[in-house]
Amino acid sequence: MNTLSNVCGPVEVGVSSLKLEVMSAWIESQWMPRFPDLELRTYYIATTCVDEGALGKFVPDFELPGGFRFVGVTPIECNAVASISSYDYDGELSHRTGAFTYRFQTAETNETVDVLVMASHYTDEGWRIVAVGCMPEAFQPVWTVFARECNRLAYALTPDNEVVVIGGNSNSFVPKVDWDDVVLPAALKHDLMEDVRSFFTKGIDVYRRLNLKPFRKLLLAGVPGTGKTMICSAIAKWALAQNYVVIYVSSARKGPSDPYGSTFAKIEHALSVAADSALPALILLEELDAYLHPEEKALVLNVLDGSESSINDKGTLLISTTNYPEAIDERILKRPGRLDRIFIIPETRAQADAEQMLRQYLGVMWHDDHKELVPELVGYPGAFIREVAVYALTQLAYDDGQELSMDLLRRSFKGLKEQIDARDDFLKKRGPITLVPTNGNGSKLPI
Ligand SMILES: Nc1ncnc2c1ncn2[C@@H]1O[C@H](COP(=O)(O)OP(=O)(O)OP(=O)(O)O)[C@@H](O)[C@H]1O
Ligand SMILES: [Mg+2]
Repeated sequence: MNTLSNVCGPVEVGVSSLKLEVMSAWIESQWMPRFPDLELRTYYIATTCVDEGALGKFVPDFELPGGFRFVGVTPIECNAVASISSYDYDGELSHRTGAFTYRFQTAETNETVDVLVMASHYTDEGWRIVAVGCMPEAFQPVWTVFARECNRLAYALTPDNEVVVIGGNSNSFVPKVDWDDVVLPAALKHDLMEDVRSFFTKGIDVYRRLNLKPFRKLLLAGVPGTGKTMICSAIAKWALAQNYVVIYVSSARKGPSDPYGSTFAKIEHALSVAADSALPALILLEELDAYLHPEEKALVLNVLDGSESSINDKGTLLISTTNYPEAIDERILKRPGRLDRIFIIPETRAQADAEQMLRQYLGVMWHDDHKELVPELVGYPGAFIREVAVYALTQLAYDDGQELSMDLLRRSFKGLKEQIDARDDFLKKRGPITLVPTNGNGSKLPI
């Protein structure tokens, strides 16, 4: 999505204006007088135009208006801005500040235009950059197309087997969960994966034929610990294996100046990264309810409508999660088109599922005697069953034990159950939210 703000970059009035003034003063006194015959103008330009990754990927044949092509960058002497190269955490050159000429040439007439580009850090933190360009006024439409392509390249993703994180503290992560390890009622598990798979394999064509944007939105709803995050992770791993782009929207807060970690801007950014990627894209948006605060709810609704977002032709699938479907109002839940499908992710319902989880989390320590505990685990979320196993295994390790006795496993279960009961009692006194195990019909089990 090429909004003005991401073509031009955010303007922070105040700190950056000083640097802008220094740079434009240098241009007027030192640069413009060298070209008395040209109608030169200074423009505020997007920092993606000094993004080394984008410039490195710029295709020499990319045709700009008027038959121009981008030829290359040459650093020039300038005492107004410091020349500093920045590397990212992978050791790749990311940005360069300083003064440069960007050369453009037409193939047919060899007409050459040099644009002066100046970029400078404007805080000592090192990542805030402001940039200006000085060029003939008539060249500005060519530059605009060049800048737009730089912006696309800066955000365009190449499949690299990592989930791209938007708004988090790390840039990417590698999902480790296998779909086989997710334990769910068989029909639900099959349906969910079929929905995801068939959207990418068949659905896109259907959307295209109906002249709709290929944008599908699923919601996973369930009490804490039922595996929603695990499902997202397993689907992410599957999607990366298909060479799709996977984007995770993090609701991490950056600090006190960031009151909501869950901001509409992050969703918008994720959609624009997906749209720029030209590959099928999967967006994971955890805790959708947290994005629906009054200030931005209308914006989120519009995005879910798809009306305000550009979606790439290869399709974008948004999977969101929530613990509190009741916090998602009817305008989203009931209006067709905003959420295409809601999957309720339940607590463990069948003994076979509880057994599979217990076996999975006890690993080599599993013993057939442990089956005795299985009926009591039904009705609890997967995270609880994992905790029972992990707690028992840690106790065993502390005691230097070799075999996990039924007694130790049962003690682990009882201890954790008591914790949950105590928490539920506490919460009941304060409000309605509970984590009470249910049986297969959703009714509460006696504790
Ligand atoms: N259905 C499941 N199958 C297998 N393991 C599970 C399942 N549910 C939970 N677990 C185990 O519990 C851990 C925590 O679950 P997870 O974080 O996915 O729950 P969640 O539904 O996202 O919870 P929350 O709503 O609090 O975010 C998982 O990493 C996994 O080890
Ligand atoms: Mg979760």
